[in-house]
Amino acid sequence: MKLALLVVLLAGCVREAQSSSQGQQDGIVRSIFEVISTTNRYFVELGFDAASYEDPGATGSNTHALWLDGWRGLLIDGDHENETINLHRAFVTSSNVVALLRKLGTPLEPDYISIDVDSTDLYILERVLTTLRPRVVTIEYNSNFGDGDSSALAFPDTDWMPLGASKGAFAATCFYGSSASAIYAVATAAGYVVVGVVYGLDLVLVRASLWPHPGIPLANLTKRLDTWPAMSVEDAAALIDHSVYAAGGSLCAARRAAAIALRRLARAPNLEPCTCFLGDADCVQFTKGCSCFRDLADLPVPDCVDVTSPHAADVKAVSVEGHRWRARVDLPAAYLDRLDASWFRTSVKIDVGPGGATEKYG
Ligand SMILES: *[C@@H]1O[C@H](CO)[C@@H](O)[C@H](O)[C@H]1NC(C)=O
Ligand SMILES: *[C@@H]1O[C@H](CO)[C@@H](O)[C@H](O)[C@H]1NC(C)=O
Repeated sequence: MKLALLVVLLAGCVREAQSSSQGQQDGIVRSIFEVISTTNRYFVELGFDAASYEDPGATGSNTHALWLDGWRGLLIDGDHENETINLHRAFVTSSNVVALLRKLGTPLEPDYISIDVDSTDLYILERVLTTLRPRVVTIEYNSNFGDGDSSALAFPDTDWMPLGASKGAFAATCFYGSSASAIYAVATAAGYVVVGVVYGLDLVLVRASLWPHPGIPLANLTKRLDTWPAMSVEDAAALIDHSVYAAGGSLCAARRAAAIALRRLARAPNLEPCTCFLGDADCVQFTKGCSCFRDLADLPVPDCVDVTSPHAADVKAVSVEGHRWRARVDLPAAYLDRLDASWFRTSVKIDVGPGGATEKYG
């Protein structure tokens, strides 16, 4: 999804926008290659959204200026194909992206990858970075989800996570993509640094080993900007808090954390004022402030039974002396740091005496 841009931040310097969104993105990518220089001048654009670079319906391509500069690469779009510009028609998902890039001849270390599929961008980034080492990546984020470091709201991975009543697709509301915090965590864990932001639109990542300056702190990226009308309750129920999921939480725990954050955001619009960034009418007309979470004050919070007891712990007899006995109970490692007697019930079976009588203690 492309919008007009207002402000671009690159490595600490703020510039006012002079031109179209495309110009801004091109400009920031160009500035980065002035610092790290180019190698194969190969780009990949996931979510091209047009049939050609000149398509009047096109909303702006991140690779057009590079193409005019003589770069070449791969374009993928769900609806269009065009051999002249190596544009392939495919629906990119977290599950197929690496195989698709391999099949279509992407080098291991392309200079630039642009991700803009309005939905599962976060998971596509995660999978790409498990295998490829692009030098620069731009990825769309959802600035409506700006919530400081209090949550890491994220779109569901629609290939894997059941969607309930949500269609799992962009519907011209603020339900799309993932928060800057979720993307920041995935990028950092993979060895990338956030060096630029096109507010309300894209984060710009560079391989940390190539970038000679400090990155942009997370706090500078998580201000909430309302850019789209309110999302539906059905869509909201499909969101997760990616930090909970990434730490090993279940889908239910990640949905639960997201629901709690969404209700908080819906109930306290005045406590955390935000900007109706692009004059979105829905936002401006919603007198209490931003509109994105307007209908979510009573979003159901799922109940999750997350910590279950091990069905059988490994018990080893250590010693028996007359009527006294000792044994060692080996709990699975996962339970050790949340040991809670309330679910720890013993059932002990003891063979007593030469007659072989068995007594059981529950
Ligand atoms: C981050 O925000 C702080 C406070 O607004 C500002 O002083 C600083 O220059 C920003 N840093 C970067 C790298 O943008
Ligand atoms: C294919 O792309 C080229 C370059 O953008 C363009 O000139 C041409 O019209 C496109 N072809 C179709 C069928 O859209």
